[in-house]
Amino acid sequence: MQSALTRRRLLATAAGAAGVATVATALGWVGGALGPRLVEPAGELVRRGEAGRRRAGAATVTAALQPRPVTLDLGGPLVQTWAYAESVPGPLLRARAGDLLRIHVENGLPAETSVHWHGVALRNDMDGVPGLTQRPIAAGGRHTYEFTAPDPGTYFYHPHSGVQLDRGLYGVVVIDDPDEPGGFDAEWVVVLDDWVDGTGRTPDQVLASLAEMAEHMRHGGHGGHGGHGGHGGGMETMVSPLLGGAGDVAYPWYLVNGRIADAPVTLTGKPGWRVRIRLVNAAADTAFRVALTGHRLTVTHTDGFPVVPTDVDAILLGMGERADVTVDLGDGAFGLVAAAEGKIGQGLAVVRTGAGEPPPATRRPAELDRRMALASTLRAAEPVRLPDQAPDRVHTLVLSGQMMPYRWTINGATYERLDPLLVCSGERVRLRLVNRSTMFHPMHVHGHTFAITGGGARKDTVIVVPNQGIDVDLDATNPGQWMVHCHNIYHAEAGMMINLAYQA
Ligand code: C2O
Ligand code: CU
Repeated sequence: MQSALTRRRLLATAAGAAGVATVATALGWVGGALGPRLVEPAGELVRRGEAGRRRAGAATVTAALQPRPVTLDLGGPLVQTWAYAESVPGPLLRARAGDLLRIHVENGLPAETSVHWHGVALRNDMDGVPGLTQRPIAAGGRHTYEFTAPDPGTYFYHPHSGVQLDRGLYGVVVIDDPDEPGGFDAEWVVVLDDWVDGTGRTPDQVLASLAEMAEHMRHGGHGGHGGHGGHGGGMETMVSPLLGGAGDVAYPWYLVNGRIADAPVTLTGKPGWRVRIRLVNAAADTAFRVALTGHRLTVTHTDGFPVVPTDVDAILLGMGERADVTVDLGDGAFGLVAAAEGKIGQGLAVVRTGAGEPPPATRRPAELDRRMALASTLRAAEPVRLPDQAPDRVHTLVLSGQMMPYRWTINGATYERLDPLLVCSGERVRLRLVNRSTMFHPMHVHGHTFAITGGGARKDTVIVVPNQGIDVDLDATNPGQWMVHCHNIYHAEAGMMINLAYQA
């Protein structure tokens, strides 16, 4: 998930710049000798945008992240992995809207890394995409991210380097709204994940085996031991009635706040409490259906932005999606269940306000199959509704690809062969997402919060199911070079990414 430097563009700039080895050409945002001039991630326009974001008298919130190899206890199983701290998720970062965040990263990994601030409409040069907005942070190297977070909400951070997200490298960013009434008795941050690292394969090996299996099949093989490659025998089973093809990898564990379902975390409250739960799907290849047994959920926000409050029994979250839900707690012990959609297994946290036995780790609660919130059915709250306006520009992204060979494409091509989607500052831009594959794709746009057309929810990540087209609109008000990609990390690595490029 790095390398925006396309081969074609690299050749073009190498020729065009005639030996002027600037950071610019190294980062690849010069569109080539003949290409359009693009906004520079660290240029004047971006600096000006940041100045406009800054609130007078805003606080500076500082934090340190030290990605490093660790041994984690998932609640029984001990795994070797990479994480931002000695536990997973990484440190919770919290600031108020308009504050400046200053995060020092010290790379203790034996590999290059980066940190991306998923969902935050920040200055482009702090977006954390190696090859596009910065150089990678070398093993042993340091980097400081410094940006204003303009919009309140639930966000998260993770590397934008290869498939590192599928290790333990993720954490949550909460941006508080100084004007929000609040009134919650408690707030719980709940992070969902699919886990494989340290169980005999690393995510890099998973990716390699997906590619190899394709190679093997092409030469007349049978993908026989595919059970561990994720597919093979799994291919038929990893299907969801809602999503179609639901994933490429059958994970041994699904985690809630870093714990397997047999050893769940307990969230403690009192009967009658009103609690806000901030749900984050940090998984690489798994959507989750989430419910709290014996309770109704009121969905108040998706991807940080408010929606018309909607009562449901369950909510579906694709990779990279977040939701804030409010619950009024009953008396007893309950299961906050995150079922891996279309896969076998679930994550669990226990919610306890009184005596009683929580539901067993493997029981699928009835709530999961009742009224379900899908982002596509939620409405934006009035204050954040994107005003209706005809688009100045429409870009169509046809999503396709398959397991054999393992290749995922936008408009028929993989990332290194795709020309950027050009936009100009101030335009209303429509992205027409059309899924012509048999799997779902949670499509994510960096640096912007789009709106599902027709008054739909404001989001930065939206599930597109097979044979579906979904239109999203955004106002191009954050100049720079931004990624648009599938948040299935294996799909992104196998090509399903494109650059949304502001022209200078
Ligand atoms: Cu969480 Cu490029 O994404
Ligand atoms: Cu995908």
